[in-house]
Amino acid sequence: MKVLIIGSGGREHAFAWKLSQSPLVTQLYIAPGNAGTSEVGENIKIDVNDFKAIKEFVLAKDIQMVIVGPEVPLVKGIHDFFLADTELMDIPVIGPTTKGALLEGSKDFAKNFMHKYGIPTAGYQTFDNQNIDKAPEFLKTLNPPYVLKADGLAAGKGVLIIDSYDEAVAELEEMIINEKFGSASQKVVIEEFLSGIECSVFVLTDGQSYKILPSAKDYKRIGERDTGLNTGGMGSISPVPFADEAFMKKVEKRIIIPTIEGLKSEGIIYKGFIFFGLIKVDGDPFVIEYNVRMGDPEAESVIPRIKSDLMELFIGIGNGNLQDKDITFDDRFCTSIFLVSGGYPGSYPKNKLISGLGKTNDCILFHAGTKIHPESNEILTNGGRVIAISSFGRTMKEALDISYKNASKISFDGKYYRKDLGKDLMN
Ligand code: AMP
Ligand code: GLY
Repeated sequence: MKVLIIGSGGREHAFAWKLSQSPLVTQLYIAPGNAGTSEVGENIKIDVNDFKAIKEFVLAKDIQMVIVGPEVPLVKGIHDFFLADTELMDIPVIGPTTKGALLEGSKDFAKNFMHKYGIPTAGYQTFDNQNIDKAPEFLKTLNPPYVLKADGLAAGKGVLIIDSYDEAVAELEEMIINEKFGSASQKVVIEEFLSGIECSVFVLTDGQSYKILPSAKDYKRIGERDTGLNTGGMGSISPVPFADEAFMKKVEKRIIIPTIEGLKSEGIIYKGFIFFGLIKVDGDPFVIEYNVRMGDPEAESVIPRIKSDLMELFIGIGNGNLQDKDITFDDRFCTSIFLVSGGYPGSYPKNKLISGLGKTNDCILFHAGTKIHPESNEILTNGGRVIAISSFGRTMKEALDISYKNASKISFDGKYYRKDLGKDLMN
């Protein structure tokens, strides 16, 4: 089959790396991809949101499946675009239609959905410029810190956690009245703060049945011991020791099954990944957020652990017979450490020469912000998060030691990475 992957990050490189091993895949294209994806497929210069250009390419190359990595094209309706076009409608798209993508595209929709289907999540109310005057009253019913979430997509920046009541009231005005996050914060969900430890769980679904993928934990903050600014993710570890069998049973029964059943009841035919951002509070799982795609950087530790042919599973999603497909996992730990550009997540330079890639061993390198110099063919930095180093080990420590050993072999100006991954999970 000829397959097109949409996106350019470490997640998309992980998909491309895995699919390139499938005997079912004859041609693999990545739009727009990065230096790493060009080693396992062909990069195509098309923007992830340019549906018209994607259509032209899909028809010209006779693409038989499209796999969407990031959330924005899904929320903007790439799957609906395919379904509405007689020339494209029979080509399976991995990723939900806009109705399903609302689970990520609107926090208010996601909270109402969870409320309706009895899925455990923090208590909440939603405010906009019609009822903002009622917000101070609601805030008074909550204990600090206060959690304020922009309803729409805000590139991972739309959640504020605020200690002071007065500041929370002021920030709410900033968000709703002054549109701090643009139209995304015209509506704001205020919710109860939950105290616990977070992890990510993913399923693949064809809208009827589902396959649960290994759990993972990502490290969001730039600084060690989870300090400093939020990033797109500094690394990930799979599996998560505290997401043990008893916990995962609760996740399946209380969260995964009601979510799939809820989508069906809403008449939403959901095909793709569902990402459950969870928090464990006193042994019980609560949903912090839904995402409608695979996680990044979680993909870089979860995808390598899938032993089965991922293309078979995607075909099962397309055909609606996922339940007939087998999925097996590598039971070793996989740890993935991101090397990032100095200055990230603030401003940082690009086009720094990356050296030492050939000196690494026993690991998989997943590129994110990289590109190939058109003349010299050298690999250069091209983003904040540059390369993830994923390694296996019988223990988490063994896997981490290999990732860290390799992290020291790769060089570029300003290279930074967190040295404390996994420390919070080992005791
Ligand atoms: P989100 O963008 O929804 O993933 O939120 C970003 C981060 O804010 C989460 O990963 C959590 O660490 C934190 N967070 C969001 N909602 C809550 C909540 N209700 N209680 C505690 N922390 C939260
Ligand atoms: N790792 C969090 C995300 O993919 O949004």
